[in-house]
Amino acid sequence: MSESDYQYIQELVYKLSRISLGPQKKTLVVSRIIKRMRELRCATLGQYCDLLRRPSGQQELSELIDAISTNHTYFFRESPHFDYLTRHILAGADRSVQRPFSMWSAACSTGEEPYSFAMVLEEQRLYERGFEWEMVATDISHHVVARAELGVFPATALTRVPQRLFRHLKQEPSGNYRVVDAIRRRIRFLQMNLFAPHATIRENFDLIVCRNVMIYFDGETRTELTQSLVRRLRPGGILFVGHSESLSGVDAPLERVQPAIYRRIAS
Ligand SMILES: C[S@@+](CC[C@H](N)C(=O)[O-])C[C@H]1O[C@@H](n2cnc3c(N)ncnc32)[C@H](O)[C@@H]1O
Repeated sequence: MSESDYQYIQELVYKLSRISLGPQKKTLVVSRIIKRMRELRCATLGQYCDLLRRPSGQQELSELIDAISTNHTYFFRESPHFDYLTRHILAGADRSVQRPFSMWSAACSTGEEPYSFAMVLEEQRLYERGFEWEMVATDISHHVVARAELGVFPATALTRVPQRLFRHLKQEPSGNYRVVDAIRRRIRFLQMNLFAPHATIRENFDLIVCRNVMIYFDGETRTELTQSLVRRLRPGGILFVGHSESLSGVDAPLERVQPAIYRRIAS
């Protein structure tokens, strides 16, 4: 890969997704693009870049982002967030508020994250009369959103799901498990770039979960994203970030509650 081709890919990916690809990512980037090059019969990276530049290459842009982005995720990742939801948010919620508890899983990947939180919320709904919840789950990648919406997972993906929560999963003849309709119909899945929020994304979420995506952004982008997320939280609402994604130094009306847990300061 020539330096100029790599620079073109770096700039394009940044423009489309704000994912920051340093020089050290070059080998990884090439290995991920090679599959697309084979499928499109491009013999060199230069040919692939030419295709991306052409008007007919527009559709390939989203395939490029899909190829570049890391979608690694799993059920009940980062357990302190689930403990906090149960012990503090749900246990301490103001029940005089007559609207469903609302959550946004921003950068939801293949669905393990939103469904893990959804199972906890659904348990609360079954246990507490009158409690309702709704969720939006978004990701920049069409492919992962489509998989998330399907809600089908092999048994090997479910090893961290507590046994009592298996009532929210139904085994299919193939042996895979499908998240029950009662949960799936409460989640709205959308393909969406965090930097081009969909007009229908509301502005008063009780909880926003944006985990393990900020690590791919530079400092300036992290600040911009955090400020945009905070605007979509109700005052007093909670933001979860990944445990390796401290927001210290980020200028936003947030107070740190615990590692990776922040509250929007009432204004
Ligand atoms: C490592 S996964 C994290 C999944 C999940 N939040 C978790 O913690 O397990 C990162 C996800 O961020 C998504 N992503 C990257 N850049 C994005 C952007 N600009 N807008 C929306 N999603 C983005 C990727 O497609 C990927 O699915």
